[in-house]
Amino acid sequence: MKPSSQLREFAKNIIKEKKQQISKNSSLESVDLLSRFLSSGHSDEDFVTDIVISFILAGRDTTSAALTWYFWLLSQNQEVEKEVLREIKEKSESPVYEEVKDMAYTHASLCESMRLYPPVPIDSKVAQHDDVLPDGTVVKKGMRVSYHPYAMGRLEVLWGSDWEKFRPERWLESATDGANKVGKWRFVGRDPYTYPVFQAGPRICLGKDMAFLQMKRVVAGILRRFKVAPVAEDGFEPVFVAYLTSKMKGGFPVRFEKRDD
Ligand code: HEM
Repeated sequence: MKPSSQLREFAKNIIKEKKQQISKNSSLESVDLLSRFLSSGHSDEDFVTDIVISFILAGRDTTSAALTWYFWLLSQNQEVEKEVLREIKEKSESPVYEEVKDMAYTHASLCESMRLYPPVPIDSKVAQHDDVLPDGTVVKKGMRVSYHPYAMGRLEVLWGSDWEKFRPERWLESATDGANKVGKWRFVGRDPYTYPVFQAGPRICLGKDMAFLQMKRVVAGILRRFKVAPVAEDGFEPVFVAYLTSKMKGGFPVRFEKRDD
């Protein structure tokens, strides 16, 4: 079987199983995204199969790549880890949506990690018509144009002379109550053309908010209980591999150390 048919078969099985579960237990209808699609009248199986495939491709390897590099950077930056942990501990053990939205420091640290190690390191488009870019560059119909989030995240002109540093604070300002500092962070985003990690414009990533929600919940769930320590010896330098999504060469072997506090 061709890999594309295998993938379709795999997605169709997920849908079949979910339909069976819903028919046995209708309270599942609102529990997860697929159940919601199926319960909201999307009966066209090809349509739902396409959704499942695009969510697996777009939503799985991206967030796992982001978290691999994130845990690596945390292991090398104890101060950042401490601040993330402080924020997590202010929330409940399974933070609800409103609490996750309020995790400004964790959010900033994820943006900063993806600046240095973007899950989609390079992305291309093919021009459907002749065009001219804002800087005057002529693009002819059929030409391929690529943008390069990995390189852009490391440009001094965009991020300053300390671009090499993992510094979540570059995405934050101290929240104030009038003239008084209140000891909380406020997230300050960058425009998507400076930081095209989720692309920009009308075809920007549809799952961006969901990705942050997922990643923050996973980070909160793991860090509250465990320290994630690299198994590799001191001095180990991971190698960034730029496939369709980014990878750490050889993976990232870690040891989960249970926290006592
Ligand atoms: C850190 C995580 C993620 C990153 C960095 C990311 C990045 C991107 C990028 C760069 C694109 C543009 C691809 C292109 O058109 O060439 C994209 C598109 C897309 N993403 Fe994400 N993504 C992430 C997570 C997710 C998640 C979790 C979902 C869904 C649950 C998702 C759904 C989509 C969809 C449906 C598109 C296509 C949008 C369109 O073409 O109109 N993404 N993403």
